[in-house]
Amino acid sequence: MASAILLVGGFGTRLMPLTKNTPKPMLTVAGIPVTEHQLNMAKAAGITRIVLATSYLAELFTPYFGDGSKWGMQIQYAVEKSPLGTGGAIRNAAKLISSSESIVILNGDVLSSHNLTEQIHQHEEHDADVTLHLTKVEDARAFGCVPTESNGRVTAFLEKMEQPVTNQINAGCYVFSPRVLESIPVDTVVSVERETFPALVASGAAMYGYVDSAYWVDIGTPHALMDASIEIVKRNGDFLIMPGSKVDPTARLTGGTSISANSQISAGAMIESSIIESDCYIGSNAQISGSYVSRGTKVKDGAKIVSSFVTNDEIIPIP
Ligand code: GTP
Repeated sequence: MASAILLVGGFGTRLMPLTKNTPKPMLTVAGIPVTEHQLNMAKAAGITRIVLATSYLAELFTPYFGDGSKWGMQIQYAVEKSPLGTGGAIRNAAKLISSSESIVILNGDVLSSHNLTEQIHQHEEHDADVTLHLTKVEDARAFGCVPTESNGRVTAFLEKMEQPVTNQINAGCYVFSPRVLESIPVDTVVSVERETFPALVASGAAMYGYVDSAYWVDIGTPHALMDASIEIVKRNGDFLIMPGSKVDPTARLTGGTSISANSQISAGAMIESSIIESDCYIGSNAQISGSYVSRGTKVKDGAKIVSSFVTNDEIIPIP
């Protein structure tokens, strides 16, 4: 198994205003785009070819990822003129792969350190139609839940509900056999969560869950995204500075702040629990807390910014 499709074409409405000019998967977590974290994870599981299924702001992916050679991978782009939904996007991207092998599908808004190699292995052992990564959460009410039999076979694919029957939820990483890919209609809007998966369960398809409770986070809301970045940075210290950035020795970076490549942080600046994207300039004595500073932004000397999304044109409170 060497190919994957990465779903990166959604509007990311819950992440507004961060997604005004940037597609959700290109938002920064711990110094690099969410998609780059996923490429690294897929590569570690032996994936060498990735198709990015794009639609909303599709043009922003290619300048960063190119042909993938920088990551030692082959990256291709399947662009939908208008969004085809998760299932339609998978079908459209699969046209570029035409493989007789199973394919990994990754939702573009999930960071996970589950064992993808083991998920693929289990899929092959069962000769499954689909194998879903399932994770366990404390409160499953905000998610669709997926009960399984003791051998891992999926018995239902359920929408969000007030009293979930299990705390196992769909974690957004699937292995699909080619026969399932071919069953999705071409150039048609389809949702895998609402249509394909429930139909597969109803038809008695071999659909299995791979339960793994390693680190997993859905970065679909501003707070989830900020928290994920802070948590990942804090694994290795109080802040992260990516290569090419210059930070004045009198500036203070705390609380899991990350500074992406080629930014400049001036004397006396204090930046706490924030994400500063690449090519930013933060003026002297500026104070920034709990904020997301968008690529190329110039923050004035002495500015005070709290819990905001910042560009050169506007400063908007993060809801
Ligand atoms: P919200 O609008 O905030 O719900 O976010 P979203 O539009 O990204 O939708 P959702 O979180 O349900 O999408 C899950 C994953 O599928 C994300 O990585 C999306 O980028 C992706 N996705 C959703 N719809 C489409 C689509 O029509 N085409 C493509 N290519 N990807 C999609």
